Amino acid sequence: MALFLAIETSCDETAAAVFDDALQIRANVVASQTDLHARFGGVVPEVAARAHLQRLMPVIDEALRQSGVRLCELDAVAVMNTPGLVGSLLVGVSAAKMLAVALEKPLLAVNHIEAHVYACRIAAGRDVFPAIGLVVSGGHTVLFHCRSALEFELLGATLDDAAGEAFDKAASMLGLGFPGGPKVEKEAAAGNPRALRFPRAFLHEPRLDFSFSGLKTALLYTIRDLGYQPGGEIPASVRADLAASFQQAVIDVLVAKCAQALEQTGLNRLCVGGGVAANKTLRQALQQMCTARGAELFVPPMSLCTDNAAMAAMAVELYRLGQFAPLDLDAIPTYRPRRPVKSTPLVTTTST
Ligand code: KG4
Ligand code: ZN
Repeated sequence: MALFLAIETSCDETAAAVFDDALQIRANVVASQTDLHARFGGVVPEVAARAHLQRLMPVIDEALRQSGVRLCELDAVAVMNTPGLVGSLLVGVSAAKMLAVALEKPLLAVNHIEAHVYACRIAAGRDVFPAIGLVVSGGHTVLFHCRSALEFELLGATLDDAAGEAFDKAASMLGLGFPGGPKVEKEAAAGNPRALRFPRAFLHEPRLDFSFSGLKTALLYTIRDLGYQPGGEIPASVRADLAASFQQAVIDVLVAKCAQALEQTGLNRLCVGGGVAANKTLRQALQQMCTARGAELFVPPMSLCTDNAAMAAMAVELYRLGQFAPLDLDAIPTYRPRRPVKSTPLVTTTST
């Protein structure tokens, strides 16, 4: 059985995980930096990179301790090298290279966005591909046609803000603080999702792209039209209606585009990942849509939804094919769809 250590430092979570080639997660440690960034109302790249530098080694130590695996027992080191904040990514990439060299073991490079989809495969404990993959996070809103675990074809993406970013900005306008998603969801629970009308971009168009900047502006103007100051005091019942109506607009679009993607590809499996997938109202709406279509919905548990290193178990697929990363592996801030490389399996293992 092959053992892996994975490192994640793409944004504001310092994370390390230990797993095996049967996709059993032996440890999944995440040190959140939320408190460090809260007073700035968003992630400050410089602060994030420095915090990763301080925390990464203790986090790796903790993952090894929890798993009972010793460094010398590892068969490979995986790292998410793209996309993300470049200074933050560099901390994880450098540490992973150093470990791979010191242990004389292969280095594996995993795409953070694709790993969010792969989290569904890990949680399901069985093959989930081919499937439609939706990643809704703070930096990305992307739809994939996942032909297999390593063949991801881009179907659509946001043209401006990501869904999570829209939640965070809405929270700020509603005076709810950072990070916004969970706060907007909590506030929305007491509100009426039909109280205010908000735009839903491309809802009835066949294109599979998203746009949330118009919705954000509509929220800003609505708050002003109601006579309040964005970010200032808003009565609780009005704030709840604004949060619920805003959340519903985001959910309607996400659900509609997933339904269209399933329809257009003829697939009947939907894998959803990323921080926004933690939203219970979204999960329920996606479940309803999938049930109505006779499709299967896969959403990982919270620990695999928000940023973590265990989702880098996608590296097991690369390891089996011998697709190792070179030691001059770079940190790449922007998302570039990976070109699948067909190669001969070096390692044969039975999949779960
Ligand atoms: O995937 P993630 O942990 O980090 C990135 O890679 O961006 O996603 C973080 C995003 C944040 O924008 C946060 O506000 C959003 O996910 N989020 C939520 C919820 N929990 C986290 N959005 C809506 N509802 C939630 N319950
Ligand atoms: Zn993420």
